[in-house]
Amino acid sequence: MSFNKQELVQSTTFADQKRKTVEVAEFTEDGRYKRKIRSFVLRTGRLSEFQKHAMNQHWHFYGLEHQNQLFDFKSIYANDNPVILEIGFGMGHSLVEMARQNPHFNYLGIEVHTPGVGACIANAVEKDVKNLRVICHDATEILRDCIADHSLAGLQLFFPDPWHKAKHHKRRIVQTHFVEKISQKLAQGGFIHMATDWENYAEHMLTVLQQVKELKNTSITNDYIPRPEFRPLTKFEQRGHRLGHGVWDLYFTKK
Ligand SMILES: C[S@@+](CC[C@H](N)C(=O)[O-])C[C@H]1O[C@@H](n2cnc3c(N)ncnc32)[C@H](O)[C@@H]1O
Repeated sequence: MSFNKQELVQSTTFADQKRKTVEVAEFTEDGRYKRKIRSFVLRTGRLSEFQKHAMNQHWHFYGLEHQNQLFDFKSIYANDNPVILEIGFGMGHSLVEMARQNPHFNYLGIEVHTPGVGACIANAVEKDVKNLRVICHDATEILRDCIADHSLAGLQLFFPDPWHKAKHHKRRIVQTHFVEKISQKLAQGGFIHMATDWENYAEHMLTVLQQVKELKNTSITNDYIPRPEFRPLTKFEQRGHRLGHGVWDLYFTKK
Protein backbone atom coordinates (compact mmCIF):
# COMPACT_ATOMS: atom_id res chain seq x y z
CA MET A 1 0.00 0.00 0.00
CA SER A 2 1.77 3.14 -1.12
CA PHE A 3 1.53 6.10 -3.43
CA ASN A 4 3.80 8.84 -4.58
CA LYS A 5 3.11 12.55 -4.67
CA GLN A 6 3.03 12.55 -8.51
CA GLU A 7 -0.06 10.36 -8.45
CA LEU A 8 -2.14 12.96 -6.66
CA VAL A 9 -5.38 13.76 -8.38
CA GLN A 10 -7.71 16.74 -8.16
CA SER A 11 -10.68 15.24 -6.42
CA THR A 12 -13.93 16.33 -4.92
CA THR A 13 -14.85 12.91 -3.67
CA PHE A 14 -14.83 11.40 -0.21
CA ALA A 15 -12.40 13.66 1.68
CA ASP A 16 -14.06 16.88 0.46
CA GLN A 17 -17.47 15.79 1.54
CA LYS A 18 -16.24 14.15 4.69
CA ARG A 19 -16.51 16.82 7.30
CA LYS A 20 -19.16 19.36 7.89
CA THR A 21 -19.62 18.32 11.49
CA VAL A 22 -18.03 15.82 13.83
CA GLU A 23 -20.91 15.28 16.21
CA VAL A 24 -24.29 13.69 16.33
CA ALA A 25 -26.89 16.44 16.82
CA GLU A 26 -28.93 16.10 20.01
CA PHE A 27 -32.28 17.72 20.74
CA THR A 28 -34.30 18.55 23.82
CA GLU A 29 -37.68 16.88 24.37
CA ASP A 30 -39.41 19.86 22.80
CA GLY A 31 -37.21 19.58 19.70
CA ARG A 32 -34.70 22.34 20.31
CA TYR A 33 -31.03 21.81 19.40
CA LYS A 34 -29.03 20.95 22.51
CA ARG A 35 -25.88 23.02 22.69
CA LYS A 36 -22.94 21.02 24.03
CA ILE A 37 -19.82 22.17 25.81
CA ARG A 38 -17.12 21.06 23.39
CA SER A 39 -13.46 20.51 24.10
CA PHE A 40 -12.55 21.72 20.59
CA VAL A 41 -13.17 24.44 18.05
CA LEU A 42 -13.69 22.97 14.61
CA ARG A 43 -11.01 24.66 12.54
CA THR A 44 -11.72 24.99 8.84
CA GLY A 45 -8.18 24.19 7.70
CA ARG A 46 -8.06 22.89 4.15
CA LEU A 47 -6.84 19.45 3.31
CA SER A 48 -3.75 19.46 1.13
CA GLU A 49 -3.99 17.42 -2.08
CA PHE A 50 -1.71 14.87 -0.43
CA GLN A 51 -3.97 14.52 2.63
CA LYS A 52 -7.07 14.44 0.46
CA HIS A 53 -5.64 11.69 -1.71
CA ALA A 54 -4.68 9.66 1.37
CA MET A 55 -8.21 9.91 2.75
CA ASN A 56 -9.90 9.13 -0.54
CA GLN A 57 -7.71 6.15 -1.30
CA HIS A 58 -7.18 4.64 2.12
CA TRP A 59 -10.19 5.48 4.27
CA HIS A 60 -11.66 2.05 3.62
CA PHE A 61 -8.69 0.53 5.45
CA TYR A 62 -7.81 3.14 8.09
CA GLY A 63 -11.09 4.94 8.72
CA LEU A 64 -13.88 4.07 11.13
CA GLU A 65 -17.16 5.93 11.43
CA HIS A 66 -19.20 6.75 14.49
CA GLN A 67 -21.95 4.13 14.92
CA ASN A 68 -24.69 3.42 17.44
CA GLN A 69 -23.16 0.05 18.12
CA LEU A 70 -20.00 -1.18 19.82
CA PHE A 71 -16.88 -1.71 17.71
CA ASP A 72 -15.78 -5.29 17.28
CA PHE A 73 -12.03 -4.83 17.60
CA LYS A 74 -11.24 -8.42 16.69
CA SER A 75 -12.86 -8.09 13.29
CA ILE A 76 -11.57 -4.53 12.75
CA TYR A 77 -7.90 -5.46 13.29
CA ALA A 78 -8.23 -9.13 12.34
CA ASN A 79 -6.42 -10.09 15.53
CA ASP A 80 -6.83 -10.17 19.31
CA ASN A 81 -4.05 -7.76 20.23
CA PRO A 82 -4.69 -5.18 22.98
CA VAL A 83 -6.11 -1.85 21.80
CA ILE A 84 -4.67 1.54 22.80
CA LEU A 85 -6.83 4.60 22.21
CA GLU A 86 -5.36 8.05 21.57
CA ILE A 87 -7.64 11.07 21.72
CA GLY A 88 -6.71 14.28 19.88
CA PHE A 89 -3.72 12.99 17.91
CA GLY A 90 -3.29 16.26 15.96
CA MET A 91 -1.33 15.44 12.78
CA GLY A 92 -0.71 11.93 14.11
CA HIS A 93 3.08 11.76 13.84
CA SER A 94 3.65 10.38 17.33
CA LEU A 95 0.67 8.02 17.02
CA VAL A 96 1.94 6.51 13.76
CA GLU A 97 5.42 6.22 15.24
CA MET A 98 4.12 4.41 18.34
CA ALA A 99 2.04 2.06 16.17
CA ARG A 100 5.11 1.35 14.03
CA GLN A 101 7.26 0.63 17.08
CA ASN A 102 4.66 -1.60 18.77
CA PRO A 103 3.22 -4.02 16.21
CA HIS A 104 1.88 -6.28 18.97
CA PHE A 105 -0.63 -3.55 19.95
CA ASN A 106 -3.53 -2.12 17.96
CA TYR A 107 -3.93 1.66 17.94
CA LEU A 108 -7.13 3.64 17.57
CA GLY A 109 -6.85 7.40 17.08
CA ILE A 110 -9.65 9.95 17.36
CA GLU A 111 -9.27 13.49 16.03
CA VAL A 112 -11.83 16.09 14.96
CA HIS A 113 -9.47 18.07 12.72
CA THR A 114 -9.87 16.59 9.21
CA PRO A 115 -6.47 17.68 7.81
CA GLY A 116 -4.86 15.96 10.82
CA VAL A 117 -6.74 12.76 10.01
CA GLY A 118 -5.61 13.00 6.36
CA ALA A 119 -2.01 13.63 7.42
CA CYS A 120 -2.11 10.70 9.83
CA ILE A 121 -3.42 8.31 7.16
CA ALA A 122 -0.84 9.54 4.63
CA ASN A 123 1.94 8.98 7.16
CA ALA A 124 0.64 5.50 8.08
CA VAL A 125 0.52 4.56 4.38
CA GLU A 126 4.04 5.83 3.85
CA LYS A 127 5.38 3.87 6.86
CA ASP A 128 3.27 0.81 5.96
CA VAL A 129 1.70 0.80 9.42
CA LYS A 130 -1.26 -1.59 9.53
CA ASN A 131 -2.13 -1.78 13.26
CA LEU A 132 -3.82 1.64 13.30
CA ARG A 133 -7.35 2.90 12.65
CA VAL A 134 -8.60 6.49 12.84
CA ILE A 135 -11.91 8.21 13.51
CA CYS A 136 -12.86 11.80 12.66
CA HIS A 137 -15.46 12.50 15.33
CA ASP A 138 -15.92 13.90 18.85
CA ALA A 139 -14.16 11.42 21.14
CA THR A 140 -16.73 11.79 23.91
CA GLU A 141 -19.42 10.41 21.58
CA ILE A 142 -17.20 7.57 20.41
CA LEU A 143 -16.53 6.61 24.03
CA ARG A 144 -20.23 6.76 24.84
CA ASP A 145 -21.53 4.84 21.81
CA CYS A 146 -18.81 2.65 20.27
CA ILE A 147 -16.29 1.42 22.86
CA ALA A 148 -17.18 -1.58 25.01
CA ASP A 149 -16.48 -1.53 28.74
CA HIS A 150 -13.17 -3.18 29.78
CA SER A 151 -12.05 -3.32 26.14
CA LEU A 152 -9.06 -0.94 26.12
CA ALA A 153 -5.49 -1.63 27.17
CA GLY A 154 -4.74 2.06 27.45
CA LEU A 155 -5.69 5.66 26.78
CA GLN A 156 -3.28 8.33 25.55
CA LEU A 157 -4.05 12.01 25.76
CA PHE A 158 -1.09 14.12 24.73
CA PHE A 159 -1.19 17.90 24.95
CA PRO A 160 -4.96 18.36 24.94
CA ASP A 161 -6.17 21.93 24.40
CA PRO A 162 -5.47 23.63 27.76
CA TRP A 163 -8.22 26.26 27.55
CA HIS A 164 -6.09 28.75 29.45
CA LYS A 165 -8.75 31.17 30.70
CA ALA A 166 -10.59 30.19 33.89
CA LYS A 167 -13.94 30.90 32.26
CA HIS A 168 -13.10 28.26 29.62
CA HIS A 169 -11.89 25.56 32.00
CA LYS A 170 -15.23 23.78 31.64
CA ARG A 171 -14.20 23.05 28.03
CA ARG A 172 -11.16 21.05 29.08
CA ILE A 173 -11.64 17.44 28.02
CA VAL A 174 -10.23 16.18 31.33
CA GLN A 175 -13.16 16.30 33.74
CA THR A 176 -14.21 13.78 36.37
CA HIS A 177 -17.00 12.30 34.24
CA PHE A 178 -14.58 11.93 31.29
CA VAL A 179 -11.96 10.09 33.37
CA GLU A 180 -14.64 7.89 34.95
CA LYS A 181 -15.83 6.98 31.46
CA ILE A 182 -12.29 6.14 30.35
CA SER A 183 -11.75 4.05 33.47
CA GLN A 184 -14.94 2.12 32.69
CA LYS A 185 -13.56 1.34 29.19
CA LEU A 186 -10.18 0.12 30.47
CA ALA A 187 -9.42 -3.52 31.10
CA GLN A 188 -7.94 -4.32 34.51
CA GLY A 189 -4.32 -3.16 34.57
CA GLY A 190 -4.97 -0.77 31.68
CA PHE A 191 -3.29 2.63 31.69
CA ILE A 192 -4.11 6.30 31.28
CA HIS A 193 -1.18 8.35 30.03
CA MET A 194 -1.61 12.11 29.84
CA ALA A 195 0.92 14.81 29.05
CA THR A 196 0.67 18.58 28.99
CA ASP A 197 2.96 21.60 28.78
CA TRP A 198 0.61 23.75 30.85
CA GLU A 199 1.27 23.49 34.59
CA ASN A 200 -2.20 24.54 35.65
CA TYR A 201 -3.73 21.84 33.43
CA ALA A 202 -1.25 19.25 34.80
CA GLU A 203 -2.43 20.08 38.33
CA HIS A 204 -6.03 19.80 37.22
CA MET A 205 -5.33 16.42 35.54
CA LEU A 206 -3.68 15.15 38.72
CA THR A 207 -6.59 16.25 40.91
CA VAL A 208 -9.15 14.63 38.62
CA LEU A 209 -7.22 11.36 38.17
CA GLN A 210 -6.69 11.07 41.93
CA GLN A 211 -10.44 11.36 42.51
CA VAL A 212 -11.25 8.21 40.53
CA LYS A 213 -11.04 5.33 43.00
CA GLU A 214 -10.24 2.56 40.48
CA LEU A 215 -7.08 4.36 39.35
CA LYS A 216 -3.63 4.14 40.86
CA ASN A 217 -0.82 6.64 40.30
CA THR A 218 2.43 4.98 39.14
CA SER A 219 4.50 8.03 40.08
CA ILE A 220 6.87 7.30 42.96
CA THR A 221 6.39 10.89 44.11
CA ASN A 222 2.62 10.46 43.77
CA ASP A 223 2.31 13.16 41.16
CA TYR A 224 4.13 13.18 37.80
CA ILE A 225 6.48 10.71 36.08
CA PRO A 226 9.67 11.64 34.22
CA ARG A 227 9.06 12.05 30.50
CA PRO A 228 9.14 8.44 29.21
CA GLU A 229 11.50 7.59 26.34
CA PHE A 230 8.77 5.58 24.62
CA ARG A 231 6.58 8.65 24.04
CA PRO A 232 7.67 10.26 20.74
CA LEU A 233 7.87 14.06 20.68
CA THR A 234 4.55 15.51 19.49
CA LYS A 235 4.06 18.63 17.40
CA PHE A 236 2.55 20.58 20.30
CA GLU A 237 5.28 19.45 22.63
CA GLN A 238 7.89 20.81 20.18
CA ARG A 239 6.00 24.08 20.07
CA GLY A 240 5.95 24.14 23.89
CA HIS A 241 9.73 23.61 23.95
CA ARG A 242 10.20 26.59 21.65
CA LEU A 243 8.11 28.69 24.02
CA GLY A 244 10.16 27.48 27.00
CA HIS A 245 7.31 25.46 28.55
CA GLY A 246 7.87 22.52 30.90
CA VAL A 247 6.25 19.10 30.32
CA TRP A 248 4.27 17.04 32.80
CA ASP A 249 3.50 13.34 32.21
CA LEU A 250 0.90 11.51 34.28
CA TYR A 251 0.59 7.72 34.19
CA PHE A 252 -2.15 5.94 36.12
CA THR A 253 -3.25 2.30 35.93
CA LYS A 254 -6.57 0.66 36.64
CA LYS A 255 -6.53 -1.48 39.78
C1 LIG B 1 -3.42 20.90 21.28
S1 LIG B 1 -3.78 19.69 20.08
C2 LIG B 1 -2.57 18.41 20.41
C3 LIG B 1 -2.35 17.49 19.26
C4 LIG B 1 -1.32 16.38 19.45
N1 LIG B 1 -1.70 15.46 20.51
C5 LIG B 1 0.03 16.94 19.71
O1 LIG B 1 0.51 16.85 20.85
O2 LIG B 1 0.65 17.47 18.77
C6 LIG B 1 -5.26 18.95 20.73
C7 LIG B 1 -6.04 18.18 19.67
O3 LIG B 1 -7.16 17.53 20.26
C8 LIG B 1 -8.24 17.57 19.33
N2 LIG B 1 -9.50 17.39 20.10
C9 LIG B 1 -9.96 18.20 21.08
N3 LIG B 1 -11.11 17.74 21.60
C10 LIG B 1 -11.40 16.59 20.91
C11 LIG B 1 -12.46 15.65 20.98
N4 LIG B 1 -13.46 15.81 21.84
N5 LIG B 1 -12.43 14.60 20.15
C12 LIG B 1 -11.40 14.43 19.27
N6 LIG B 1 -10.35 15.28 19.16
C13 LIG B 1 -10.35 16.35 19.97
C14 LIG B 1 -8.10 18.90 18.65
O4 LIG B 1 -8.70 18.93 17.37
C15 LIG B 1 -6.57 19.05 18.55
O5 LIG B 1 -6.07 18.59 17.32
